[in-house]
Amino acid sequence: MEGLILGIETSCDETAVAVIENGRKVLSSEVSTSEELHRKTGGIVPEVAAREQIRCMIPVLEMALEEAGLEGGWAGIGAVAVTVSPGLIGSLLVGVETAKTLSWVYDKPLVPVNHLLAHLYACWLDEGPEVALPIVGLIVSGGHTELVYMTDHGQYEWIGGTLDDAAGEAFDKGAKMLNLGYPGGPAIEKAAEEGDPTAFDFPRPMIDREGLDFSFSGLKTALFYFLKDQPSLLEDRRTVADLAASYQQAIVDVLVSKVLRAQSVYNTEGIILAGGVSANRSLRDQLKGKTTGPVYLSPRQYATDNAVGVAVCAHHNFQPQPIGKVTVCPNFDLR
Ligand code: KG4
Ligand code: ZN
Repeated sequence: MEGLILGIETSCDETAVAVIENGRKVLSSEVSTSEELHRKTGGIVPEVAAREQIRCMIPVLEMALEEAGLEGGWAGIGAVAVTVSPGLIGSLLVGVETAKTLSWVYDKPLVPVNHLLAHLYACWLDEGPEVALPIVGLIVSGGHTELVYMTDHGQYEWIGGTLDDAAGEAFDKGAKMLNLGYPGGPAIEKAAEEGDPTAFDFPRPMIDREGLDFSFSGLKTALFYFLKDQPSLLEDRRTVADLAASYQQAIVDVLVSKVLRAQSVYNTEGIILAGGVSANRSLRDQLKGKTTGPVYLSPRQYATDNAVGVAVCAHHNFQPQPIGKVTVCPNFDLR
């Protein structure tokens, strides 16, 4: 669908609104996060996240409209797209009810969007080259580690994923054990900059096992017992940096190895790397260094949760339905 699409994302602890032109140009992208509140609890409390969504939704919407130069000018907007799943139900409801209201009041079609697809589509922007299909995509976030084979818009096949923890969860829990704070991914990445990734030999779960599934709980447990036996390691900043770098390297090795295997099995030229963990520079660089084909990435600020991908996904998948204004985005119920 050409023209402007307003996207809304509230699946977790970010309240985000974006306005996208012709599926590629970001006119505005506003994100408010309740990360600070969750830092106190060392993780997300769903009730707290949902209440923050209520507080932030309207101001973020107003800011995004203003940034796009659209204050009051709804005539230019062709559709309202919103994340409907997966996510925390209390948080999702805030975005969905807001989108439904806007659709009703301004008489715009409503496009439900899957959060994981939105992550994939954040790689389809002006800043990057046109994505060539078919392609394999690796979506790595706080709650998901999924491999997808995409042959066309609307045609996605789930081809593998984690059997237990997600990659982002491994980062978050590892950072907690290393006393690096929350959220763990950026904290481990920062600490790892000064560390040696070969200093400690952590397991690479399932790396040699056939297939495209992942497992990260064993890695987390390995770090737990390693530190339980030698808690004094945490007292030395240099050692913590080595631990962070080695732990990060174990995650990166597994992710890179499995997505390259998927690329080879499905014989695709390129790879999409998406989701919050794809902000990790080490992961980005190592993947790019190990494949000759193109690696499509979102700009780093759109790797973690935002509404840009929501609107871009709607642009490529908009299909008006006979039942009325609500349109259907391809379902992406993974397993
Ligand atoms: O996609 P996202 O923003 O939210 C979910 O859908 O879950 O992903 C959040 C996850 C968190 O686990 C966070 O620690 C991780 O992405 N993350 C990172 C980095 N930035 C965010 N992991 C590794 N390196 C980063 N730079
Ligand atoms: Zn996400």
